[in-house]
Amino acid sequence: MGDTKTDDSKASENNVNQNTEDGSAATPKEIRAIVLTGFGGLKAVKVMKKPEPSAPAEGEVLIRVKACGLNFLDLMARQGAIDNPPKTPCVMGFECAGNIEAVGEGVTDFKVGDSVVALTEYKAWAELVCVPAKYVYSLPSGMEPKEAVSMLMNYVVAYCLVFDIGNLQKGQKVLLHSAGGSVGLAVASLCKTVPDVTLIGTASKHKHETIAEYFTHLFDHSQDYVQETKKLLPEGVDLVLDCVCGEDVNKGYSLLKPLGRYVLYGTSSIVSGETKSFFSFAKSWWQVIKLAQSSCLMRTRS
Ligand SMILES: NC(=O)c1ccc[n+]([C@@H]2O[C@H](COP(=O)([O-])OP(=O)(O)OC[C@H]3O[C@@H](n4cnc5c(N)ncnc54)[C@H](OP(=O)(O)O)[C@@H]3O)[C@@H](O)[C@H]2O)c1
Repeated sequence: MGDTKTDDSKASENNVNQNTEDGSAATPKEIRAIVLTGFGGLKAVKVMKKPEPSAPAEGEVLIRVKACGLNFLDLMARQGAIDNPPKTPCVMGFECAGNIEAVGEGVTDFKVGDSVVALTEYKAWAELVCVPAKYVYSLPSGMEPKEAVSMLMNYVVAYCLVFDIGNLQKGQKVLLHSAGGSVGLAVASLCKTVPDVTLIGTASKHKHETIAEYFTHLFDHSQDYVQETKKLLPEGVDLVLDCVCGEDVNKGYSLLKPLGRYVLYGTSSIVSGETKSFFSFAKSWWQVIKLAQSSCLMRTRS
């Protein structure tokens, strides 16, 4: 998914040059899309008309979009606060669900009319989108498109964090930040599938009652959760899942047991307003300890 072309250039490539019978060029069909016109606040986001992508390329499918996911990643992309930000203008969105409208050459897993959900690199917030078939998944029968997009990215990320990277094992202890967010809740529900896991979460106080059933203990993020966790678990935790960054890096690392794993998968703390803040970037960088590989080995934590 490393294509750096903007949606504009791809759409015009894909848009078949339709000619009328007398040879004159027909007016190209248009779709509506949500376009990021430049990095910044909400004013930079506009509903615009774009050329219809009419023919999926080899290995692609064309999806008529019925529902889109909106993630923290979209907010950071809008601000230009991510690695490799896109060229603007571009159509926003990283996931969508709908029905297959056309299949490109070589696609055998899908047919026209199938209900699917897809991960895209931008382009998802549009009426029609072409996506490589390898990033498209069939919906189980009875699942609505809006349910599918509320789960796909959140659970893919959560699965990687808990099992592929975190290697969570029976009886282990986990500290999870932003526990009431969408990735946080997906992580919590996957942790429940492993026996005897102790799950400590941080989340804004008003979310605690709603999400309490998933957690052993919940702290407000503004509380001294390090001291409180040490009281509950003097030996520390096996896994820290941190998407906040900044001062939480040092705090989380200090709670790790020997051979514990610290996973940083987001930088929410640099988001302090509607637009990118260089002050927040600088503060976050300053607050993060610089760990050499050798020091991680000496401390037997990674
Ligand atoms: N690496 C990856 O592949 C990947 C993929 C997806 C998401 N992520 C990261 O995972 C994190 C959560 O994403 P999400 O889609 O689950 O978001 P979400 O549903 O919008 O939830 C985000 C939560 O983060 C907390 N939060 C919001 N703004 C914050 C700020 N400025 N400082 C500290 N906390 C803040 C809030 O929780 P409380 O108020 O309750 O603390 C909020 O509920 C983000 O950092 C995102 O970038 C990474």
